[in-house]
Amino acid sequence: MFKKDFPIFKNNPWLVFLDNAASTQKPQYVIDGVSDFIASSYANIHRGLYSLSEKSEAAYHRSKELVGELLNCKTSEVIYTYNSTYAINLIAQSLVISDVLQAWDTVLLGIREHHSNVLPWQVLAERRGFKIEFFNITEEYEIDRNDFDQKYNDKVKVVSVAQVSNVTGKIYDVKKIKSKLREDTFFMVDGSQSVANFPVDVQDIGCDCLIFTGHKMMAYTGIGVAYLKKEWLKKLVPMIRWGWTIEDVDMQWHTLIGNSDKFEAGTPNIIWAVSLLKALEYIKSIWGMKKIREHEQKLVKLCVEGFSKFKDKVEILWPLTTERVAVFSFLLSNTSNFNSIGERFSEDNIAVRCGGHCAYPLHKRFKKSGTCRMSGYIYNDESDIAKFFETLAKIA
Ligand SMILES: Cc1ncc(COP(=O)(O)O)c(C=O)c1O
Repeated sequence: MFKKDFPIFKNNPWLVFLDNAASTQKPQYVIDGVSDFIASSYANIHRGLYSLSEKSEAAYHRSKELVGELLNCKTSEVIYTYNSTYAINLIAQSLVISDVLQAWDTVLLGIREHHSNVLPWQVLAERRGFKIEFFNITEEYEIDRNDFDQKYNDKVKVVSVAQVSNVTGKIYDVKKIKSKLREDTFFMVDGSQSVANFPVDVQDIGCDCLIFTGHKMMAYTGIGVAYLKKEWLKKLVPMIRWGWTIEDVDMQWHTLIGNSDKFEAGTPNIIWAVSLLKALEYIKSIWGMKKIREHEQKLVKLCVEGFSKFKDKVEILWPLTTERVAVFSFLLSNTSNFNSIGERFSEDNIAVRCGGHCAYPLHKRFKKSGTCRMSGYIYNDESDIAKFFETLAKIA
């Protein structure tokens, strides 16, 4: 139904694209919208008093307004970065240089986190001396409550967790996690795999910060978002600075402005921000995130039915239930070589991803060196899923 909106499928008529958890394809609306913006309205923003700069500024601002609508937050609480990884690094560094996170503190993460939510903390912990702890998940991939309660002690200053696992597609109840936390714990949610797939409301979750990345929801690469709650916007200072982030500069000192602009050092990603604006307009035009969720649930149902026919031959990472986004990581019992499975799919023009999916601690927890991952999005249809299972049948 939506496939016709995506030129990649006209140009590659045989393509079955099931690598959407890695990145999504771009609709013609986004491609045209960005081109039109560059051709008719582009200039640097913030300081230009001429109409082109004002047009450009308006598009940048409108983009943030739509992100505000998407997450249910204020436009002023939206910080633009390059991707999720940069957003997590930015916030982690800001917590450190603002002295919120000190040498005697602990950062608590899930064992299932993407490396983007592990490495930024590790590199700072090495230098600053704070500790990182990981709470485990059970054999059923649920949060190990006892382990969480044990590790969430008085020293924990930051808890940072993904709302959806990029390996298993499992949706975690981040609101419930928030309800267990003390008021002074900074709660960060990695929404990289959730914001793209279903409605996410930061007020409802009650998080202090939520990050996501535009390219997983049909925007271009190079645009990421950090929602930062108003109180923290005031409290935190950024590591990287430039002209626009200041109130005043002298030779030995400078004072920072108080709003989200202080986190956007350098000329912002204006063109990429417009790509996110266009992607969000496109999503609105197809009835919003609820529609995406609805469509994905159909895909999930088809996949659960499909995989359940291979019970003895295919191992799925986390039980074959429908309470997930359309992400399935699997291995075949006749080979542990996940790369060869991916190559076999590729021979049939089916794009899936193979490896550790930047989640080695999770794979180690389940004694796997890697898996194959198929993931669907709004443009995948029944025939894509049928083709995937035809090839799986041949390989299995
Ligand atoms: C859960 C999760 N967090 C973070 C990231 C990093 O996103 P990006 O590469 O856009 O920074 C990904 C990407 O796959 C992800 O799935």
